[in-house]
Amino acid sequence: MVVRVVASSALPIDLVAQVQAAVPGTQVEVPAAGHAGFAGVNLSDADALVSLLLDRIDAALLERAPNLRVVANCAVGIDNIDVGAATAAGIAVCNTPDVLTEATAELAFALMLAAARRIGEGERLVRAGAWTGWALDQLLGVGLTGKTLGIVGFGRIGQAMARRALAFGMRVLHADPRDDAMLDGRAVTTAPVPQVTVDELFAVADVVSLHCPLTPTTAGLVDTRRLARMKPTGILVNTSRGGCVDEAALAEALNAGRLFAAGLDVYAGEPAIHPGLLASERVVLAPHIGSATTETRTQMAQLCADAVIAVLSGRRPANLVNDVVIR
Ligand code: GLV
Repeated sequence: MVVRVVASSALPIDLVAQVQAAVPGTQVEVPAAGHAGFAGVNLSDADALVSLLLDRIDAALLERAPNLRVVANCAVGIDNIDVGAATAAGIAVCNTPDVLTEATAELAFALMLAAARRIGEGERLVRAGAWTGWALDQLLGVGLTGKTLGIVGFGRIGQAMARRALAFGMRVLHADPRDDAMLDGRAVTTAPVPQVTVDELFAVADVVSLHCPLTPTTAGLVDTRRLARMKPTGILVNTSRGGCVDEAALAEALNAGRLFAAGLDVYAGEPAIHPGLLASERVVLAPHIGSATTETRTQMAQLCADAVIAVLSGRRPANLVNDVVIR
């Protein structure tokens, strides 16, 4: 039987050439351009899928693909995949960590700077031809040197964000909702980045930056109650997943002047954006581009190719997120 690989999107590497060189005779299907998805594609004999975070890989899709051995998701986040259903079906799920760490931290840092210094507002003012010249009190922002950055989720990207903030003379704290019960209100003084509870972090940080995956524990983590703990000069940065934030609550806090600004790259219902956020001058809105550098996206696609080739060759892939037996 022919081995078949289906990608939902065009990729910045030659997946066809690479897979066919490693596993001769494999049929590899890659859209010529853009994202085509898997809807309407016959997956009944597919052995491997290369997916994007736009593709919902749920039990219904897996049922359409009874021969599937691997899903290589071209993203570090895997909240678009029902990993439990994949594991139950013996399907390997792989993601693309590490290669996007620095790019995503760079974007988070850029959003923090842009929100603090009101760069979006300034750009709009200049482009509208409404700038009448230098003024002592124009577009006053929030200084960051000596301020506290609170990082929620201290994994690879959170730590890369911390390194940048420390180099900018900021104090850095981190929190992980999974550890809150264990911390019981005590700070763990691990220099240079102490761990506090999530609630404590929201109360003391000048900037809160989210770097946690979207899970049942982190869904809606930034809600009305936590936003109310933040300082009115506070800034929220989100480059993780939109679902971690109650967007209506965030829009309300911003538009009521209870929060200084936000820098967002991700949204709960992408590409839709909450109208209250669109209406706020104080939100810097990026279109989910955390990992969008040429270098990083190429490396992400390469990790997907490597994962597919490994599984089709009977090897354990490098970035396996579930515990399955590789056939
Ligand atoms: C992007 O959001 C990713 O998860 O890689």
